[in-house]
Amino acid sequence: MSFRIAPYELDDLHGIAEIEKECFDHPWSYDSFCMEYADKRKHYFVAKNEEGALMGYGGFAEVEDEAHIMNVAVSAPYRRTGVGSAIMGAMIEKAKELGLNAITLEVDDSNSGAKALYEKAGFRSAGLRPHYYGWDRPANIYWLYFDEKKLG
Ligand SMILES: CC(C)(COP(=O)(O)OP(=O)(O)OC[C@H]1O[C@@H](n2cnc3c(N)ncnc32)[C@H](O)[C@@H]1OP(=O)(O)O)[C@@H](O)C(=O)NCCC(=O)NCCS
Repeated sequence: MSFRIAPYELDDLHGIAEIEKECFDHPWSYDSFCMEYADKRKHYFVAKNEEGALMGYGGFAEVEDEAHIMNVAVSAPYRRTGVGSAIMGAMIEKAKELGLNAITLEVDDSNSGAKALYEKAGFRSAGLRPHYYGWDRPANIYWLYFDEKKLG
């Protein structure tokens, strides 16, 4: 399946909110994404197919010298075709371009598909944060350091 990755635009926000609703129990609203869009330290990317349909999105926040991934989601019909990996790749490249030292995220530890995606992209688990998503639902904290030497 052919697709392209690009930084998000204002016109993408409704589509992003739709995918968010499809993918998560507690989705961010359209208004939340408008606030993200207004924040210059947030960097989101979208994947679109040849017809211009939104397939997925992902974004991160610059926090000091780190990139904190806010979310990555791919609409169900387009999964397992490399879209999530491509979005992740675009975020990693952007974080490097900004001179950041590392990229991190938290994921529900039961989300084995997402964990496999992150591990394939080079992230390593730094351990669990208990009860992060609710009782008995720990978050797994993942990091990817761009230059281990620079961090000392
Ligand atoms: C997690 C998610 C973003 C993956 O997107 P995707 O486009 O399907 O990912 P890719 O096709 O790039 O997959 C890359 C690799 O990740 C792993 N992977 C992805 N989904 C997987 C799954 N459901 N089960 C096992 N491994 C999976 C595989 O190693 C895969 O490589 P392969 O297809 O060659 O085996 C997508 O399933 C999704 O949107 N899920 C719902 C939202 C979500 O949970 N987001 C993460 C929140 S932190």
